[in-house]
Amino acid sequence: MSITIQQLMQWKQQGRAIAVLTAYDYGMARLLDTAGVDVILVGDSLAMVALGYETTLPLTLAEMLHHAKAVRRGVKNALMVVDLPFLTYQESPQQAMRSAGQVMKEAGAQAVKLEGGYPEMAQTVRYLVQAGIPVMGHVGLTPQSVHQLGGFRKQGKTAEAADRILTEAIALENAGAFAVVLEHIPAKLAMEITQKLTIPTIGIGAGAHCDGQVLVTPDLLGLSAWQPPFVKTYANLEEGVTQAIQQYCQEVRSRQFPQ
Ligand code: KIV
Repeated sequence: MSITIQQLMQWKQQGRAIAVLTAYDYGMARLLDTAGVDVILVGDSLAMVALGYETTLPLTLAEMLHHAKAVRRGVKNALMVVDLPFLTYQESPQQAMRSAGQVMKEAGAQAVKLEGGYPEMAQTVRYLVQAGIPVMGHVGLTPQSVHQLGGFRKQGKTAEAADRILTEAIALENAGAFAVVLEHIPAKLAMEITQKLTIPTIGIGAGAHCDGQVLVTPDLLGLSAWQPPFVKTYANLEEGVTQAIQQYCQEVRSRQFPQ
């Protein structure tokens, strides 16, 4: 039995922090799962870090399903959550249900994540939850709204903006979301939201006081062309991979490999 949403709730009560990372293919999903990551998110950051788009907007549901199915084959213990791509859920709760249904039935996701909180999105979350679909919310910097936000900028910096994000997070909890991602907001605001909610908050660029943390895996491994300022790079694989490939090319050309 894999990690459950009930376990995440329990961990919040016990103060046990939740470790979340993203995966986009079988190989990395297997490594993350074996290393003991609690929640594996097939994030729509897939569009940027694996497919080379400049934003998450072009990603289709078909592309997401293709990658999520591969991740499913690598995940045994972690809870697997899949992002609903831009415009596959915003139109109506019924559209969201169809997309979430495909992600769960075809790719074996145990939960879906969607962006935004108030008020239409909270209604959509309630609709999905009533049908038995666990939903993770996502507020603060919501990359699917990048053009409306004027870039990948920190959110909630004014009292009014902070209040709106808090209201959205509460609306998501009231609608039945089992957790909420807080992206790129002031640490003080993230702490206030974390204290007010009974469901776990998962922070990214939101300080140390969330119930869990999430990063985009290629960022922490030093494999991304660009990364946000709040990322900690735990390994510099770009250097190691480049060196290994240069050595291979050189040995093939000089006929050192194969021996
Ligand atoms: O798409 C993604 O990877 C995400 C995380 C950054 C939370 O939404």
